[in-house]
Amino acid sequence: MTIVPEKGLTSLMADSNSPITTVNVDLGDKSYPIYIGGSILPKIGEYVQRLEVGRKILLVTNPTVYALYGQVVVGGLNKSGLEVVVGEIPDGEQYKTLESARSLYDTAFEHSLDRKCAVLALGGGVIGDLAGFVAATYMRGLPFIQVPTTLLAQVDSSVGGKVAVNHPRGKNIIGAFYQPKMVFADIDTLQTLPQREFRAGMAEVIKYGVIKDSGFFKFLENEQINIKKLSREEIIRVIETSCAIKAWVVEQDETEQGLRTILNYGHTFGHAYEALTGYKKYVHGEAVAIGMNTAAGVAVKLGMLSASDRTSILNLVRAFDLPVHFGLLKPEEIIESMSHDKKALAGKVRYILPEAIGQVKLVTDVPPKILYEVLDEQKKG
Ligand SMILES: NC(=O)c1ccc[n+]([C@@H]2O[C@H](COP(=O)([O-])OP(=O)(O)OC[C@H]3O[C@@H](n4cnc5c(N)ncnc54)[C@H](O)[C@@H]3O)[C@@H](O)[C@H]2O)c1
Repeated sequence: MTIVPEKGLTSLMADSNSPITTVNVDLGDKSYPIYIGGSILPKIGEYVQRLEVGRKILLVTNPTVYALYGQVVVGGLNKSGLEVVVGEIPDGEQYKTLESARSLYDTAFEHSLDRKCAVLALGGGVIGDLAGFVAATYMRGLPFIQVPTTLLAQVDSSVGGKVAVNHPRGKNIIGAFYQPKMVFADIDTLQTLPQREFRAGMAEVIKYGVIKDSGFFKFLENEQINIKKLSREEIIRVIETSCAIKAWVVEQDETEQGLRTILNYGHTFGHAYEALTGYKKYVHGEAVAIGMNTAAGVAVKLGMLSASDRTSILNLVRAFDLPVHFGLLKPEEIIESMSHDKKALAGKVRYILPEAIGQVKLVTDVPPKILYEVLDEQKKG
């Protein structure tokens, strides 16, 4: 991973007061840049052109995002001589399916898209995962471009190449590792994002601080007001640092053989909370926020983490108005649900537990007694 100021791009910038930050994901011949800036969407065409893709672009989006940003993106692409075919999928996780992928294959086929043509995802993580899956599979792979418009997508799902659709038996069961050619994140899109979705993205941001960067964690503590106000400088730092940490992890372990599991901090418990509430009560980031608290509680009980570090994590999660307790779920059903986690190996649940702010460890042998104790405590709130 490298963070470099953009050189020679001044003429491309929408406004010289909003420079574009670039985080590079270094993956050999699969390397790509993540561009981050304000008011940069109108310039999308110029950046896509540099990728030397074909003249037709399949733009995958949903009606919510298309109504807000479709015109500016299509206009930007057209201005650079690119022809846009729009593949619209209804809004919602329930449409991240093979059926939706199939309808996008149909659109690609009807418009004679060939292997040089790019698929561009304009939207949150649902659209990014689905469009990436289509890009990975149509004609054995088309160039893929991510234009993430939620905080979660800008700091997490658009980076790292995991693409997937859901199966009735489980989330993200059918997928691939397929890296984009470029990620293009305009922070101004966050202005229209519902508050709840913003908070959910912040859970993943806090996660990065806990797993890798105590300085970033401090920054989040100190700048929470500016971050909530979407102040430009602070939001750019939030996205840039998050992407840099994710890039650092992915560069060392692209296909999750080892290190990449640290990104699951809070997720093992979080997935159980989501599943047990039928994916209705919590958005993903909220469940992760509660899961980070549970994992920190387990780490304290195991003597790995100080109580004060745990309190800091709890306080930061609360500061961004995220939940920290799972309410009425029963500890036994949570433990049972985690045993089915798709990331369990040889029947062993893998917990990412903090040792300090900025450092985590993989632990596979948490005694059930400790799990019950922590879950019982958390239930009470
Ligand atoms: N590939 C990965 O590595 C990875 C990582 C984390 C999560 N994910 C996936 O990401 C998905 C969740 O993504 P998400 O949280 O972005 O949810 P989402 O894509 O459902 O977006 C949330 C909502 O915000 C709307 N929206 C998007 N951008 C907007 C904007 N700028 N203004 C107003 N509304 C906007 C969407 O239409 C949607 O209603 C899940 O499917 C999850 O599995 C993937």
